Amino acid sequence: SASFVCDECDFITTVDSVMQLHRMVIHKPFLSDPCSSPPQRPQMDKRQKLSQELTYKKLQEVFNSVGDKIQIKDLFAGDGDRFNKFSITLNTPSDGKILIDYSKNRVNDEIMKLLLTLAQDRKVKEAAEAMFNGEKINITEDRAVLHTALRNRSTSQILVNGVNVMDEIDSQLCHMKTFVEQVHNKDWVGHTGKPLTDVVNIGIGGSDLGPLMVTEALKPYNKGLRLHFVSNIDGTHMAETLKKLNPETVLFIVASKTFTTQETMTNANTAKNWFLQRAKKEDILKHFVALSTNKEKVTEFGIAEENMFKFGDYVGGRYSVWSSIGLPVALAIGYDNFSKFLDGAFFIDNHFRTAPLEKNVPVILALLGIWYSNFYGAETHAILPYDQYMHRFAAYFQQGDMESNGKYVTRSGEVVDYSTGPIVWGEPGTNGQHAFYQLIHQGTRLIPCDFIIPAVSHNPIENNKHHKILVANFLAQTEALMKGKTEEEVKAELKAMKPELAAPLIPHKIFQGNRPSNSIVVETLTPFTLGALIAIYEQKIFTQGIIWDINSFDQWGVELGKQLAKAIEPELEKSESISSHDSSTNGLLNFIKSHWK
Ligand code: F6P
Repeated sequence: SASFVCDECDFITTVDSVMQLHRMVIHKPFLSDPCSSPPQRPQMDKRQKLSQELTYKKLQEVFNSVGDKIQIKDLFAGDGDRFNKFSITLNTPSDGKILIDYSKNRVNDEIMKLLLTLAQDRKVKEAAEAMFNGEKINITEDRAVLHTALRNRSTSQILVNGVNVMDEIDSQLCHMKTFVEQVHNKDWVGHTGKPLTDVVNIGIGGSDLGPLMVTEALKPYNKGLRLHFVSNIDGTHMAETLKKLNPETVLFIVASKTFTTQETMTNANTAKNWFLQRAKKEDILKHFVALSTNKEKVTEFGIAEENMFKFGDYVGGRYSVWSSIGLPVALAIGYDNFSKFLDGAFFIDNHFRTAPLEKNVPVILALLGIWYSNFYGAETHAILPYDQYMHRFAAYFQQGDMESNGKYVTRSGEVVDYSTGPIVWGEPGTNGQHAFYQLIHQGTRLIPCDFIIPAVSHNPIENNKHHKILVANFLAQTEALMKGKTEEEVKAELKAMKPELAAPLIPHKIFQGNRPSNSIVVETLTPFTLGALIAIYEQKIFTQGIIWDINSFDQWGVELGKQLAKAIEPELEKSESISSHDSSTNGLLNFIKSHWK
């Protein structure tokens, strides 16, 4: 069939109307004069309570009547076309296809239709446009949410307070590119003239997990530098890392959006002290750079402004890997690969904006999550990458999802009467299989799972034998979760045993099955496909936040602990016994102090 190719970016589609929408949405000319007919802005304020939405009530009715009766394997038996109907293939422009199979879920046509109507009722598409266009949707911090602008590969402008943020983003990317090339070409060397060999990222939360997860996932693209990440305030993390370093060849990256985070600043000062015991103050220039939004604090710390890689306050910590916070990634894999990583995310952003809801991967994954969280009462969601390189992917989205959607009040401050963000967890397969899958298969809780795998391994060792076994396990698990094992099947298996010995075993060997999963397959794990995978999850989290009517972009819940820690610190300096807290906190504090000389 005919393809329509966008003349401003790489977007290709076979549907003319989608291309028209793409042009309108992605490349529409922005008005630079705020006085001349301002653009239509979607209304984001007061929303209908989710539990009062007609569609939500209908979903509740459907759940009450069939929720416990739906058997996924019966849905397959009744519809030979189910896989085609409930899967989506995305054709990337450069890195093959991405297959998202959501057919092994407890949904039929009616439920999917209602869920999609819910997305429409909750104005997911309109809300997405508000985000992409730089509206200040992070209402409690009065900020735009523009990690999407960081990977905007089109020529469109994005205005915040009338200023096109793409100009500063381009210059930030240029700064990164120049620096990365200097280091790789050995034009940037240490204070004694030796090329850099090691890079230490000092950051925490989004200023650690993103670069760490991505550099691990893209290790096959590493250009030769050794990457280290120090996040924990526990001195062990820094002490063990410093043991491996040579002050002549190390680069410390202090990564902190605010440049005030206690853990990061303490670790950064320790690194600086270690360095100054081995080099001179002026040598800091070649060995310390900062990734931050806070120029004053960076220069106060002693890092030159030219060594500060900036980003805007419209980039949330857990969404910052696309910004200067991604510098360790670019140093590890080269700027060109970093650029492809951004391309992958942009590809998904375009898909999210232009694909109809029923073909929209992030929207569908979000709706399935809502179906299980809000109707089945599922409390957790497992992310299970069958790829060793992706071993921090679940940990990354533990922050990405839980810090975003762990909120119990709506954007207008009302307490919700439905559950919001799930507990996100996971480990790479097959390790997880030998640890916690027992509970997923035969435990009492419903745990929706995402299985992720590359079709082609970077390491096809032993004639691809390892990868084939990995693939077999990936497929077997989702099949087993869905099919389970019936009493009849167990009895047939135990046929050879004496009946009196077999009988007591039977209940233990039955698997109820009917456990839902999504399967996501990329051709190979590349910078592009990893960027795409991350953006799929980011936009899924966004969609759920909109449906739940919560602000996915603040994180006030992290503050209380920080405040109390600050209050406790001086008490640790005092020799006398502490009695200012509850008896538990006093008891613990005094017990620990009693061990200090
Ligand atoms: O955990 C709270 C948080 O603010 C995260 O959102 C953020 O990623 C992390 O702390 C680190 O913050 P910063 O980059 O300002 O040091």
